[in-house]
Amino acid sequence: MAGTKISGSGFFRLFPDRCENRFDRSPGELHRQSYPPGQRQDRLHRKKEFMSILFKPFAINGMHLKNRFVRSATWEGLATEDGAVTDELVAVMANLAEGDVGLIITGHAYVTKEGQAGCRQLGIYKDGLVAGLGKMVDAVHEKGGSIVAQLAHSGIYADPERTGHRPLAPSAIEKITNHPIREMTISDIRHLVADFGRAATRARSAGFDGVQIHAAHGYLLSQFLSPFFNHRSDEYGGELENRVRIHLEIIEAIRAQVGKDYPVLIKMNAADFINGGFELDDAVVAGRMLQAKGIDAIEVSGGTALSGRKSPIRMGIRRQADEAYFKGAATALKAAVDIPIILVGGIRSFAVAEKAVAENSADFISMCRPFIREPGLIKRWQAGDRAPAACRSDNLCFGPTRQGEGIYCVTAERERKRKSR
Ligand SMILES: Cc1cc2nc3c(=O)[nH]c(=O)nc-3n(C[C@H](O)[C@H](O)[C@H](O)COP(=O)(O)O)c2cc1C
Ligand code: SF4
Repeated sequence: MAGTKISGSGFFRLFPDRCENRFDRSPGELHRQSYPPGQRQDRLHRKKEFMSILFKPFAINGMHLKNRFVRSATWEGLATEDGAVTDELVAVMANLAEGDVGLIITGHAYVTKEGQAGCRQLGIYKDGLVAGLGKMVDAVHEKGGSIVAQLAHSGIYADPERTGHRPLAPSAIEKITNHPIREMTISDIRHLVADFGRAATRARSAGFDGVQIHAAHGYLLSQFLSPFFNHRSDEYGGELENRVRIHLEIIEAIRAQVGKDYPVLIKMNAADFINGGFELDDAVVAGRMLQAKGIDAIEVSGGTALSGRKSPIRMGIRRQADEAYFKGAATALKAAVDIPIILVGGIRSFAVAEKAVAENSADFISMCRPFIREPGLIKRWQAGDRAPAACRSDNLCFGPTRQGEGIYCVTAERERKRKSR
């Protein structure tokens, strides 16, 4: 998330235990109340009966997932400087799979060198990277997990010092970053579409279970959707059907490479939360268009680096009321399409997650920061310890990632040091 203006820190207390008791009324409990009296309940039966919907398997276009938990794409800053997988990154992914995360989505992997944003960001822009990616995939599969590659181009957040190019955007609007940007020509758009197609082929060759197109958070494909960023007067700007054209072309290019049975997901903004930006009404219509073109699941996010407190990675999640901040948007998209919806953004409590799925706002629960702190969170929840994720949503984990050290939970580290003094 280089380029995202996330600043400050905060000291937020953990959720009190009593929240767990107050809110942890699972659909399993309701079911239990209506259980016919006198019926034999052997251990297996009881186990099944109490199983939360969050632990029930589900599939996305043939990709069978053991539960409803997704590790949302996370720039770990653990690749080499030219985007290759390292042993450290393999270990992080294997650890997540070991922790029973149903689906892992990689950090945003640049489909062309020009699209690189951050240091030690994962790449998928050349065939030479496939062997390393394959090692990472194998490590996840060996632990019984599933993994999807997030395909991305950072647009104006690409770092010219790394890429050697002026950052690209749908329109050359000024004063968003410190670098001069270049409006994409039709030829640039054609190249980009082909780059996404080729990246998907590499993902499939490496053994990934699917791909996810990154069209959220103000990055390049998110900007095409947004009237705030996209001022084009050609077939890629103006009306929604023009602003979504590049996404539809990318899906077509990917499908031409990988066929119709390969899972192709998208992460998109439901709203930008900036004046003149992308809005939920358009997102709902775009969702239907993406489904019609063959997208298999939508991860619903929102906000950009310019959205202030409504950023995609909100701080200060202290109460259940602060959690799941895109639930309303996910509910609207879920009602509009027939493909799985993945809800991301500030989910910290088991009860909040369970309610979102049980009430049909989403099919999957996606989290990022909670897994940085606790890769074993799902295993813990499954074992019956339903205390909320320990993550304090202070975003301190961006520090080491930006400095090239690779991601870790800075807050947990500080707490450990304090205790050992
Ligand atoms: C360190 C860090 C890196 C992230 N990298 C990505 C990324 O590569 N691609 C992406 O779509 N979102 C990225 N995100 C956003 C998360 O996927 C997620 O949408 C957001 O953090 C909200 O979820 P959470 O409250 O569970 O953290 C990143 C977030 C963090 C904290
Ligand atoms: S993972 Fe750690 S450093 Fe990152 S937001 Fe959570 S508590 Fe803070």
